Amino acid sequence: MSTTPLKVAVTGAAGQIGYSLLFRLASGALTADRPIELRLLEITPALKALEGVVMELDDCAFPGLAGIEIGDDAEKIFDGVNLALLVGARPRGPGMERSDLLSANGAIFTAQGKALNAVAADDVRIGVTGNPANTNALIAMKNAPDIPAERFSALTRLDHNRAISQLAAKTGAAVTDITQMTIWGNHSATQYPDLFHAEVAGKNAAETVGDQDWLENTFIPTVAKRGAAIIDARGSSSAASAASATIDAAHDWLYGSAENDWVSMAVVSHGEYGVPEGIISSFPVTTSGGDWSIVEGLEIDDFSRGKIDATTNELVEERAAVTELGLI
Ligand code: NAD
Ligand code: LMR
Repeated sequence: MSTTPLKVAVTGAAGQIGYSLLFRLASGALTADRPIELRLLEITPALKALEGVVMELDDCAFPGLAGIEIGDDAEKIFDGVNLALLVGARPRGPGMERSDLLSANGAIFTAQGKALNAVAADDVRIGVTGNPANTNALIAMKNAPDIPAERFSALTRLDHNRAISQLAAKTGAAVTDITQMTIWGNHSATQYPDLFHAEVAGKNAAETVGDQDWLENTFIPTVAKRGAAIIDARGSSSAASAASATIDAAHDWLYGSAENDWVSMAVVSHGEYGVPEGIISSFPVTTSGGDWSIVEGLEIDDFSRGKIDATTNELVEERAAVTELGLI
């Protein structure tokens, strides 16, 4: 057990996801055995609201919360951080696709990538939740040339958790019986939640379900369009579930994924599974000691190949769009 606090930056800390995330971080959901210091970044007009959130954090008297710093200067807030959770960005509204946010949000990640490059701790890990998450992570990565590319990841754990929940409901299994779920590609409506490699109580999930029509026409669109369904129902985008997934992803990255299982993380491609090199795409990964590695050797049939190609083509197009905008 380390008594040195883990320094965790959260951007967009006064936002909806922030309001769920900060209390769970402070209560030990990420680092049960180690104190945490929170570094909270906001834009200037939101600092007053953030002060209110800090009052509430104080009022919880969390034993593991070693300190809180807030501010609107990324270089001050990111100084020495071990983990940066980049949440702050505009959410989409009804009728928008996440890629519609590229020009509005992309610039945030150039500045934050540069600031992390200048001042973060040598062991920093950077998780991007703000949308469009994969391409924002690419922008931050490209603007932080001194930080290894493998330290950047975008959140597809929410999609992964959604897929587990839908499969559990369909099969009557417990969520803990479902393993080896994979989200491939982009955190967007083109993502590919893969049941051909997932297992339900140790048996192949696609065979257990035995219903290709459900898999293609219910399961995949339900998971891929869940964000839009929540926006439609709640009037604003998912927040508590996104915060929970952000913690799940960071926890497994820092402390390791479960044995005989894997998780979905969007990480830089080195060409694995024919995914174009250099984009940040979701893969099945195992994690250990703060590092991830892509699960290799899975057989990809024609159906999966088409789905993986479609979602990764979209990421290539997003990369071209942010190149055009001069963000990378
Ligand atoms: P929100 O509007 O409630 O909060 C966003 C916060 O970010 C605001 O407080 C805003 O002031 C702040 N912000 C804006 N620019 C900033 C900057 N340059 N530096 C620091 N802070 C800044 O939105 P939310 O509901 O918390 O969602 C945040 C982002 O997360 C959105 O882009 C949303 O689409 C995305 N999201 C991603 C996932 C995922 O699974 N990857 C899930 C849900 C939401
Ligand atoms: C989600 O998946 O819930 C988020 O990315 C929000 C959105 O725009 O769908």
